[in-house]
Amino acid sequence: MDLPWGDEKTVKFVTNVGLITSDGPNGPNIQSAEWTHHISYSPGLIAVCLGRDRTTRENILATKEFGVSLAATDQNIMASVAGGSHGKDVDKISALKELGFKFYRAKEIKALMVEGAVLNAECKVAKVIELGDHTMFVGEVLAATAGNKEPLVYHSLTFRKPGEVVQKPAEKELERIKKLTEKFRKSG
Ligand SMILES: Cc1cc2nc3c(=O)[nH]c(=O)nc-3n(C[C@H](O)[C@H](O)[C@H](O)COP(=O)(O)O)c2cc1C
Repeated sequence: MDLPWGDEKTVKFVTNVGLITSDGPNGPNIQSAEWTHHISYSPGLIAVCLGRDRTTRENILATKEFGVSLAATDQNIMASVAGGSHGKDVDKISALKELGFKFYRAKEIKALMVEGAVLNAECKVAKVIELGDHTMFVGEVLAATAGNKEPLVYHSLTFRKPGEVVQKPAEKELERIKKLTEKFRKSG
């Protein structure tokens, strides 16, 4: 079956908003990608899934590198602009600069990186996998820095701030749960 965009089931996921930067045949570009995931510690790998018509996909296929900047809660407008048009038609980087957003030169790749993001990771493509109607680019992280702002959250087609911490059960309840888990430990 399909899980289409905007479907009541599809919108249940909670994701980050990756700001994916690239610089290739279509020039410097940025797109939003909620399908941005950390998938390995050693080496550090990040996967992004991009639709077939994305300018970013074309750029990355040609250059084999991309930047991942995880949007902070004060970068929702940037995420809307980056996700609102195609780099083939609009110079989104210049538009964003005019809106006051800042970029800096990456150390290891040609693409620009977003200033003030929660995480900035410069990636070299390790694998390209065609999956359904998207292309997954697995990037090996060559350089990364983390800021201390809160990440922008995407859920139910809206941008959000991270919510409250769900408190752990009281010590007594934790003990009871531990005993119960032990009761069901598989032998051997
Ligand atoms: C919050 C948000 C999340 C998005 N997530 C994705 C995604 O994970 N993958 C994708 O291919 N497009 C995603 N998009 C849509 C692209 O950002 C949009 O198609 C953009 O115009 C592509 O730009 P490009 O053609 O310049 O690469 C998202 C858009 C928004 C606003």
